[in-house]
Amino acid sequence: MGVSIETSRLTLRPWREEDVEQLALGLNDLSLARWLAFVPHPYSTSHARGWIERCREISNASMRPPAYEFAIEIKPRPKVIGGVSLNKIDWNARTGGGGIWIANPFQGQGYGFEAFEAKIRFAFCELGLSKLVNGYFDGNERSWAMQRKLGYRRVAEVASRCMADGRHTTEHVTLLLRSDWENISKAAT
Ligand SMILES: CC(C)(COP(=O)(O)OP(=O)(O)OC[C@H]1O[C@@H](n2cnc3c(N)ncnc32)[C@H](O)[C@@H]1OP(=O)(O)O)[C@@H](O)C(=O)NCCC(=O)NCCS
Repeated sequence: MGVSIETSRLTLRPWREEDVEQLALGLNDLSLARWLAFVPHPYSTSHARGWIERCREISNASMRPPAYEFAIEIKPRPKVIGGVSLNKIDWNARTGGGGIWIANPFQGQGYGFEAFEAKIRFAFCELGLSKLVNGYFDGNERSWAMQRKLGYRRVAEVASRCMADGRHTTEHVTLLLRSDWENISKAAT
């Protein structure tokens, strides 16, 4: 069970046990994990197994779960190339957070944008949220380019730390208002 989302080139669907190898392969890459806050390095199959188990618990917890964690599959193979999350959902305030990663060989081909936009559409149009908070570590120009194109604004800077390489860095906090996303979506069509 669980939510699945189709886009023209991708399927976003719940993580499954058989994804352990692909998940570990994708995240056990310091050039990628250095842009994520909470991914340990090295990243083993037992980390991957634990994460998938946790995702299952979260999605089974309630009709209004605190998070939706999606594996990103490319069509038509299907093959898992990354993950995208809508988390920290506050159903009363109608806000949420989240993150994304695309495995190295698949970066720079528009998949990140496509998956993130599908996640945003789901959050606003299906769940009725009105505001999404995200962020990126200083220097991650690709992530910022992706977010800016979708309507995110930078609203703050906070001190942060990357678990994978232990470095202290600045996180740019970003915010997407539903109205900004709607205006950008309208302009694009
Ligand atoms: C950030 C990430 C999710 C983006 O996904 P992606 O599939 O690589 O990105 P896309 O191909 O969709 O590109 C999105 C936009 O980024 C920009 N971009 C692409 N490559 C870039 C580069 N090397 N430098 C700067 N901007 C770049 C472009 O504006 C692109 O839009 P356009 O070419 O359609 O105009 C992915 O690169 C990734 O997983 N990186 C490592 C982990 C990470 O940074 N996660 C996000 C943490 S905040």
